[in-house]
Amino acid sequence: MDKPKPLVFDGMNMPPLRPLRENAEKRFTEIRDLECMKDDIILATYSKSGTHWIWEVVCMLIKGTTEYTKETKEFFFLEAIPDLDVVHNLPSPRPMNTHLPYRWLPKQLTEKGGKIIHVIRNPKDVAVSLYHHLVDFGAMNISFNQFMETMFMIPNPACAMGSWYDYVKEFEQAAENDKHGAIFTMFYESMKKNPIDETKRLAKFLNVEASDKLIEDIVEKCSFENLKNADKTIKDQSIMKKIIDFAPNMDENAKPNMYRKGVIGDWKNHFTVALNEQFDKIYADEMKNSKLPIQFE
Ligand code: A3P
Repeated sequence: MDKPKPLVFDGMNMPPLRPLRENAEKRFTEIRDLECMKDDIILATYSKSGTHWIWEVVCMLIKGTTEYTKETKEFFFLEAIPDLDVVHNLPSPRPMNTHLPYRWLPKQLTEKGGKIIHVIRNPKDVAVSLYHHLVDFGAMNISFNQFMETMFMIPNPACAMGSWYDYVKEFEQAAENDKHGAIFTMFYESMKKNPIDETKRLAKFLNVEASDKLIEDIVEKCSFENLKNADKTIKDQSIMKKIIDFAPNMDENAKPNMYRKGVIGDWKNHFTVALNEQFDKIYADEMKNSKLPIQFE
């Protein structure tokens, strides 16, 4: 079976998104140089960290509604949309999302008062989620152990947008140096365990006045089952075919499952004892200077 041709930019393997496959440097530069407005909001995550979930919560909070947006988050996915002009024409506050590392986020964003929401999920569950995502898509056909050994566990760029460790460590550093209070860090696991408090914290960061009732309703509307259902029944998925550069072995009709299980700790069903020990060693070394309270269960 043909493998998609790897394309590396700035030390990172590029995912099969058309603008990146055509000219990754051009799109990265356009994003970094994006003209920002003072109330712009960027949701920045490493893939499979719960982006679709938090995206919907953010959209509901800033609009003060519990209506689902018809567009999927991919309509506002900076490195994927056919034309960045879409962003220029959005009403304020403009929500956007990206998996680009911190160093490539719009330079003007924090200078002008914009906000960045960074969601972190424990890397074992990210790995499991990413593995299923890539297999379902027909992007690869290897065992979970092979995936971990060759792509995820070691800090190399073989994963889309580089390694998880590099991504979160770069963000941690940026958050430590953040003088404007522009970066909000949230954890997938905290949101899962305590969605009301976390959503209130998020609303406060976004300067959104939200009643307890609205917060409760948003949490309910954005529960895993409800979002999964909305994704099937309400969301316009038409953009997917426009943004993905399908390799010959990828299934154009396969719909990546953005709502697979939505739990903490599915890694326990995938990691052998040996793999877990190996992972923990590499993790301890990679994250030795990090203070991030990553929650594995
Ligand atoms: P799993 O594959 O472990 O189920 P992203 O949106 O960044 O691609 O992340 C996808 C992951 O977030 C998937 O994880 C998905 O199920 C999970 N997810 C999506 N909505 C969720 C929700 N409302 N609550 C919990 N997890 C959710």
